[in-house]
Amino acid sequence: MDGLMQLARADMAGVDALIRERMQSPVSVIPALAEHLIGGSAKRLRPLLTIAAARLAGARDDACLKLAAAVEFIHTATLLHDDVVDSSQLRRGKVAAHLIWGAPSSVLVGDFLFARAFELMVEAGSMQALEILARASRVIAEGEVLQLTRAHDLNLTQDIYLEIIKAKTAELFAAAAEAGAVVAGASPERCRALRQYGQDLGLAFQLVDDALDYSGVSDELGKNTGDDFREGKATLPLLLVMERTGVAERDFWVRTVDRREQTDADFERTRDLMQDTGALDATLELAGAYAASAKAALADFASLSWRPALEDLADFAVARRM
Ligand code: IPE
Ligand code: IPE
Ligand code: MG
Ligand code: MG
Repeated sequence: MDGLMQLARADMAGVDALIRERMQSPVSVIPALAEHLIGGSAKRLRPLLTIAAARLAGARDDACLKLAAAVEFIHTATLLHDDVVDSSQLRRGKVAAHLIWGAPSSVLVGDFLFARAFELMVEAGSMQALEILARASRVIAEGEVLQLTRAHDLNLTQDIYLEIIKAKTAELFAAAAEAGAVVAGASPERCRALRQYGQDLGLAFQLVDDALDYSGVSDELGKNTGDDFREGKATLPLLLVMERTGVAERDFWVRTVDRREQTDADFERTRDLMQDTGALDATLELAGAYAASAKAALADFASLSWRPALEDLADFAVARRM
């Protein structure tokens, strides 16, 4: 990832300045809460994707900076909402905002950040980019609601799981890359290729995130492990371990996932079962396949700098611990 950070350094400094400027408001709780979250350990992958796609596609002006800032605002808004929905306590290495300011403020500042994103998109001046990111905002919400209604379903199919993560996560990665290409004036084929790259990267990213919720380290992740298990969220590692342990553990899963009656030992046992049955490895393997597909989508780009950097980003998405 270092190569990409290096290439995008000046652009990302500009994006950061825009984010800082646009999180301001005379209503003081807004910048206070926003600063808490925005000042945390954010990876800024999605705006990086917009910048990289735009520059790879030959962007010469700075319209992509406004879109990149908008993309990060959309992402940050969904995190504020998501932590309320998931009752998460740690985000970006800090106490979740709703535990400090309360859920109502957290939700409403999320709305503020969404609105800021739309102002920035209008300023960027591309109706097509606006359309792509507006649709993504809608699809993310659909994904989050779909997940909410299916969360504890022990019989959730892998197809529906993939549909959920495609909507809640991959759509914004896809839109971030596509919007960057569009604002750079790339051909429709190139816009499609970069959208495909973003979507596959996003799927890989969320699959790894779902594995790390069991196998990761909270200090590295900046969020608590075990959140998904505690919520009974049927992510791929859990679906696979339930399938692979079969009737032998049926009662255990009904109690811990369906009824959500759990102890710390239950989480540790689940983690061990995931290791033993290969459920975690299979999840990472699928992530690896999507990362490979993401790289393949870049085949027609000849750049000697941005393209290898984006290939590295796909590897990072799979190998990451943070
Ligand atoms: C968190 O995304 C939400 C998921 C899609 C898993 P990131 O891991 O990119 O969050 P930050 O922005 O770096 O905190
Ligand atoms: C991430 O959802 C997707 C969105 C926030 C829209 P998750 O609930 O899986 O992500 P974390 O684990 O809270 O970051
Ligand atoms: Mg969450
Ligand atoms: Mg998660």
